[in-house]
Parts: sequence; C-alpha cells; structure tokens
Amino acid sequence: MKSHMKGGYGQHPIKSFQDIELWNLVKTLWPYLLIHKARVIVAMLCLVGAIAVSLGMPWALKELVDSLESDVGKALVIPLGFVLLYGGMRFGSVFLSELRDAVFSRVTESAMRKVGLEVFAHLHKLELDFHLSRQTGGISRDIDRGTNGINFMMRFMVFNILPTLVQLAIIMVILLVAFNVWFSLITLVCVVAYIAFSVITTEWRTRFVKEANRLDSQSSTRAIDSLLNYETVKYFNNEAFETKQYNRNLQDWEQARVNNRLSLALLNSGQAFIIGLGLTALMYLAAKGVVEGTMTMGDLVMVNAYLLQLFIPLGALGFIYREIRRAMSDVENMFELLKREPKIQDMEDALPLGVDQASVEFDQVNFAYQPERPILKNLSFKVQPGHKVAIVGPSGSGKSTIGRLLFRFYDLQSGCIRIDGQPLDQVQQLSLRQQIGVVPQDTVLFNDSIWNNVAYGRPDASDEDIWQAIEMASLRTFVGSLPNGVETQVGERGLKVSGGEKQRIAIARVLLKNPPILLFDEATSALDSEAERSILQALAEISKQRTTLVIAHRLSTIIDADNILVVNQGELVEQGTHQELLASAGHYARLWNMQQQDASVPEPTSEK
Ligand SMILES: Nc1ncnc2c1ncn2[C@@H]1O[C@H](COP(=O)(O)OP(=O)(O)OP(=O)(O)O)[C@@H](O)[C@H]1O
Ligand SMILES: [Mg+2]
Repeated sequence: MKSHMKGGYGQHPIKSFQDIELWNLVKTLWPYLLIHKARVIVAMLCLVGAIAVSLGMPWALKELVDSLESDVGKALVIPLGFVLLYGGMRFGSVFLSELRDAVFSRVTESAMRKVGLEVFAHLHKLELDFHLSRQTGGISRDIDRGTNGINFMMRFMVFNILPTLVQLAIIMVILLVAFNVWFSLITLVCVVAYIAFSVITTEWRTRFVKEANRLDSQSSTRAIDSLLNYETVKYFNNEAFETKQYNRNLQDWEQARVNNRLSLALLNSGQAFIIGLGLTALMYLAAKGVVEGTMTMGDLVMVNAYLLQLFIPLGALGFIYREIRRAMSDVENMFELLKREPKIQDMEDALPLGVDQASVEFDQVNFAYQPERPILKNLSFKVQPGHKVAIVGPSGSGKSTIGRLLFRFYDLQSGCIRIDGQPLDQVQQLSLRQQIGVVPQDTVLFNDSIWNNVAYGRPDASDEDIWQAIEMASLRTFVGSLPNGVETQVGERGLKVSGGEKQRIAIARVLLKNPPILLFDEATSALDSEAERSILQALAEISKQRTTLVIAHRLSTIIDADNILVVNQGELVEQGTHQELLASAGHYARLWNMQQQDASVPEPTSEK
C-alpha cells in the first residue's frame, strides 16, 4: 500500500477480503451508528416487521387457494378475507421497508457528511509535500468513492445480507415443519451452491472490475490535468495530441468495461441456472405431493411463493457481494488517507509562539527535500527585530526554500530556526503561522471575487480595513476601472486577472492579516517599475515596525535593506548592506553591475 501512496493517487487496487480488516472497519463505522441510536432501533424494528409480514404472505396465499378449493370457500366471504389480508401484507411489507429506509437515511447521510468532513480537514493537516505529490482528480474520486462506500455498506450489511440470511433460516424451518426434510435440504443445497458460485465467480471477475476502476481513475486524472493545462495545450497546438491521448485511455477503459459486462452476464446466467434447477426440483416434489394427495394446491402455491421470495434477494447477492467488497476497499482507502500521519506535528508540550520583537534566527540549518540532494547547507543568519533583510541569489539556490522552512512547511535535517529565541519545532504550528505573512512567488487565488480573496487574509476584518488594504496594495485604481469593482470574479486559480494584479491582491491580503513578520517572495516581480515603486513605498511604511524578509531578483528593490544575504547553491556566500557588499566587490557587486548595465537599456515593463 505504502509504495503507491507517494505517487499516483486514485489508483488503488481493490483489495481482497483478507487484506481488509473487517473488524477494524466495523469498529471505525460503529460510532457513526451509535450517534443515532433511536433511529437505528426504529429501523431495526421496521426491518423485523417487514420480514415477519412478508413471511406471512405465502401462508395467506395458501389459505386463500385452499379455501377456494374447499366447500366453505364458495361463500366467498373467507376467500375475500384472505385476499384482503394478502393485499394488506404486501402493502405492509413494502411500507415498512420504505419507512425503515426513511428513518435510516439520516444515519447514513450524516455518517457520509461527517466522514467526508473529517477527511477534508485531515487533508489540510497533511504536509505540503503530500499535496505537491498528489493528484487532485484522483483524491477527490477517492473521497467520493469512500463516502458512497460507507452509505452502501451500512445499508446493505444491515438491511440486505442479514435479513436474507434470517429469512433463509426461517423458510427452511417452515418447509421442514410443514412438509418434509427434502424441501429444506434441496433449498439448502441450492442456496449453498448459489452462494459458492457467486463468491467464486465474483473473485474471478474482480480483475475486470479492478482494471475498469484503474482505467477510470487514470482517464479522469488525465482529463483533469489536460484541462488544467488548457493554455499550454493551446500554446503548443496540441489539442489533437491531447484528444488522442485521452481517447487511448478511454479505449482501454471501454474494453475493460465490456469485459466487465461480459463477466457479469456469465455470473448472472450461472446464478439463474442454479435457481432454475432448484425451483424445478422443488416444484416437482410439490406437484408430486399434490398428485399423491399429501399436499394441497395451496401448499404448492406456498412453496413456490416462499422460494421466489427467497431467491429474489439472493439474486442480488452476487452484485451485493461484489459491491460490498468494493465499498469496503473504497472505505479502507479513504480511512487510510485519514490514518496517514501528518509529517509536521506539534510536540506534545508545544506552547504557542510568543512574539515580542520578532527576531528571526537560522542556526546551522541543513535541509533537503530528498536526502540525496542537500538544498540548504549550514545556513546561519540573524534578522534583528524590525529589520528588513533581503535574500538574493541565482535561481534554484534555495531562497524560496528558506521561506518555506520559516513557515515550517518542512522540518529540518539539522540545525534550528528560532523566532524570538523559540525553536520553531517546539511551538504550535498554528501560532507560528499566525505570526507570519507570506506573499508567495506564485500566487494562486480562490475562484471568487477580488473582495473575498482580499478578505481571506482576515475573515473578520471590517470593510474599512479591507478597503485600506486594497488602497495600500495600489489596487484602488484597478478596482475602480472594473465594471463590477471588487465583486469581479478572478477565475480559477486567479487566471482572469493579470500577474501583477494577482500579486497585488496577494499583498493586500497579507497586509490585512497584519502579522509581525513578513515574507515577500518576489512579491513585486510581475509589476512595472512605477507600480512597484508605489507598493514598495507603502511596504516600507508598513515594514518599519515589522521584521521583513524580502526575496528579490531585482536588486534595485532591496537597496534599503538592513542586511542583504547572498545565497548560492544553498550556502550563504556574502552578507552586508548594499554599500558594504559593493565595496567588497564579490558576488553581489557583480550581480549589481550586470543589472545596472541592463537598466541602461530601456527597461522592459515587467521582468517575468
Ligand atoms: N518540493 C520539492 N521537492 C524537491 N525539490 C524541490 C522542491 N521544491 C524545490 N525543490 C528544489 O530545491 C531547489 C531550491 O528551490 P527554491 O524554490 O528554494 O529556489 P529559489 O532560490 O527560490 O529559486 P527561484 O529564484 O527560481 O525562485 C531547487 O533546485 C528546486 O528544484
Ligand atoms: Mg523561489
């Protein structure tokens, strides 16, 4: 199981029963039943009532037929009585079943909601790394399948398999008592053969179901990925290629489903054959009994009615066996997601981070995403309270990584990061993240209005505060030019506003959050010089009382930093103020000169 947790989601094989810990599953689901005790009890009573009533029906039918045969029946009063009783019982059993479902639906639906909610909340608890490797399409399908599985399991375990078995037992006893042992025996053999055939065939069929499922997940993951990359597809004129790829997936899926369907036909036919055989044998016995005078016509009708009643739910057993199996494996997969421990955990005695001055310290930090490839090597630096520190360096040198570590998206291999002297791994994550505002390198927005995206920074903020944030992030003019103003929808992932606008929205929501530590990762890289200047002015004002980390490629934006860290291949190669670094004529000075030369050429409107 673990091996494919890492890469592809949504491609879980259906497990065999042996792999599934049924007991564990029952234990996990049990509490959801207990929440609604009264409902479960009422549903059970309905179930028992329905079984009792439906078992009475063949008897009423027999009495009806027999009374018609006898002389008493000619008066029509008694037969009429049985006709009414029969009709009433038929209605009663259906009504009780419906009542049972109506009462029980609250139990299953609320279990589905609760489990779905739990999984959703848990997904947000899992570390960034998990989310970077997952496939959204696959995982949402897993959740769908899992919650539906719960519904199915609860319904069919309780209301189908169990009652069918009880009915089977009762009918065998009735046949034994009313007639002779042959009736019970044939019924039993027939049912056992039926179940054995169903189970064996279903086991054999599982590979087709598995294959169809796998291809289903695969093609939907593929389709979602393709649609998410809509623009890229267009840039490279690859619609036909995408369609072909998708079609190939669909073709496999089609074939798998056809195979699946054929094997189902085989299963159903086999089942029908066994039932047919049993019915024939029993009806032959009954007919013989009537001819010999040991049984009445009514008896024959009753036997037939009981058998039909038994075989109808049994007919669904193959389907239910398979579906329960699938449901169990789906539910297990979902619970496995729940069991997955978040890698980043609070220590047991973790205290909330107390921020007084907001100093930040990296102390001999070593970090790697994968052990084979170190990213940060022995990195040490300090940020004094209220200072603005810039991090510069070539692409891929680990600048954004520093920000991710400060936010504790990952734990370190060795070393320590401290805020006001408190090691990050010893404070509560929630309190840590409250104190840090991040404008990430690639901002992604919610598919919602500009207003709501800004307000996300602090959901309880007043309208004035939100307007102020919009103002400070130089969004006022832009918003004013929009026909729908702040109510404008930004589109999926924020793709309907420009890169610079997106960055300003991201800045506005961090300003609204208003934390003591700010981290800007290329936060103004997509802006033109003028917009950048006005935002930087606003930011300079705000960051005066705050500790600020700025990651930048354009060195002109960080001249005023109190300290500039030059990072190369995960190592700190230089640090100092702009003047100091220029004077020492190292990496930084070289970079600066290069950018100055570029600047003498007319500046492009945006760097990215
Ligand atoms: N989740 C990840 N798993 C594995 N490697 C990663 C992951 N994220 C980043 N890296 C690698 O770590 C290195 C540092 O990445 P980082 O994002 O910190 O660079 P950066 O200095 O911010 O670069 P840029 O200026 O291009 O933004 C890169 O080589 C990158 O490929
Ligand atoms: Mg980066």
